[in-house]
Amino acid sequence: MATTMHTSKTIPGPRTLPLLGWRASIFKLYSDPFRYLSHLYATYGPVVTLSKGDASYICAFGPELNFALLSNPTLFEVSAGPMEKLAQDTALVRVGGHSLQMMRREKHKQQRRLMQPAFHKQQVAHLLTDMVTLTSLMLDSWQERTEIQLYREMELLTRDIVVKTLFGLDDKAEIEHLGSLLERMVSSLMLALIAPVNLPGTPYARMQHMAEELETALQAMIARKRSQGETTDLLSVLIHAHDEDGATLSDLELVSHAFTLFTAGHATTTDALTWALFLLSQHPQVTADLLDEVDGVLHGEAPTIEQLQQLPLLDYVIKESLRLLPPGGIGQRKAMAPCELEGYELAEGTTIIYSEFLTHRLSELYEQPDRFLPQRWATLKRTAYEYLPFSAGQHRCIGSEFALLEEKITLAMLIQRYRLEGISNARIDLGLEMRPKHGMTMRIFPQDRQFKRVPVRGNIRDLVVLAE
Ligand code: HEM
Repeated sequence: MATTMHTSKTIPGPRTLPLLGWRASIFKLYSDPFRYLSHLYATYGPVVTLSKGDASYICAFGPELNFALLSNPTLFEVSAGPMEKLAQDTALVRVGGHSLQMMRREKHKQQRRLMQPAFHKQQVAHLLTDMVTLTSLMLDSWQERTEIQLYREMELLTRDIVVKTLFGLDDKAEIEHLGSLLERMVSSLMLALIAPVNLPGTPYARMQHMAEELETALQAMIARKRSQGETTDLLSVLIHAHDEDGATLSDLELVSHAFTLFTAGHATTTDALTWALFLLSQHPQVTADLLDEVDGVLHGEAPTIEQLQQLPLLDYVIKESLRLLPPGGIGQRKAMAPCELEGYELAEGTTIIYSEFLTHRLSELYEQPDRFLPQRWATLKRTAYEYLPFSAGQHRCIGSEFALLEEKITLAMLIQRYRLEGISNARIDLGLEMRPKHGMTMRIFPQDRQFKRVPVRGNIRDLVVLAE
């Protein structure tokens, strides 16, 4: 933990109206998150309270504080914030009660040890064929089209990929059915969170009903898998996982992990792909160079694992877009005991926000931090706490290899077949969930190398320099 002592123990921060307190800052955080975080950092420094005089909700910025927070899970634990209460719900606990993301200490270590082998690079490589097949189907379906809702297309692709690779389903209709059930569960959870009142006919009651339906479907899937013997899909690998003492995952744990893997692996990859394609569409020269590289190795075909290793620029493009627009823009931890951070005293229960987004924009770590410069990664090396799109420490994303493989395959296949062009003066606003608030429409053309950048409006222009 950082040890600098400050003469004053009061954490600096904005003054807010007495009745609103930190809620006023949370409101600003929601309306324009990254400009507000940058303002807090520039005005008050690396440790900031969201409401002067109230240290229950604070922000901690920069690599040293990322390290202090993320490398000490005994002191700073994961926290679901308002979800924590909801997660106690009896129906929800059955689909989300054993979520790896919310597990703490020994239980987390034990479950993560059991799950880790399923996400090793070599194991994930078995999923390439499924990813290629589903990407091909999406690209074929674009043939007659001149315009696409890029965000929705990516949402459907990543949904089908995670469902297919998780459950090993062959039938596209079955993939879509389960995918839509999972998607509806996530939306009903969000609505229940807004109005957490358990009365008949409310979103909360609907969420409970959905949770029961989903649990039944997942239990049936697990029973089916158990009777099939081991296959390469993730659920099957998890069913057969055991540690050195012979411990395995229970059915209830498997249900939760399946649901968590869907939620953790769906929106994030959708955002990552959408923003990577947006940044490419705004940087014609990078796109031309990328197409030269990809075409030169793949000659119009889908990649193999070996070929993906011969595409350094593809790697840098993905790395750079995850730096500029990381799908997990902020995270939070909770102090489990009274402690000290940068010389400030924190009470037990303090919620601390850290930000990957802000860390990735520090000019002492990245030259011209607001520019999309993939080539920087040809020489740049950064530590796990300076570059952390997948977070760091014990809860670092278990699906990072999966996500990177999916991104590489999709971008390599897509760019060989189509050129995407933004809609002139379309509004592109980035929200706290890291998705484009109003979606993202793109014009599509069979790949003709006529790359050109079209002007856009919206807060994205304050967050990224859109010029080469
Ligand atoms: C570009 C895509 C992705 C990004 C940016 C991303 C980001 C993250 C981040 C930031 C965390 C840590 C949260 C924290 O520390 O509180 C995390 C955790 C996690 N992610 Fe991902 N993720 C991605 C894709 C995936 C995929 C594809 C899967 C699964 C198929 C997945 C499964 C998980 C799980 C299970 C955790 C919890 C790990 C634990 O608590 O031990 N993620 N992810």
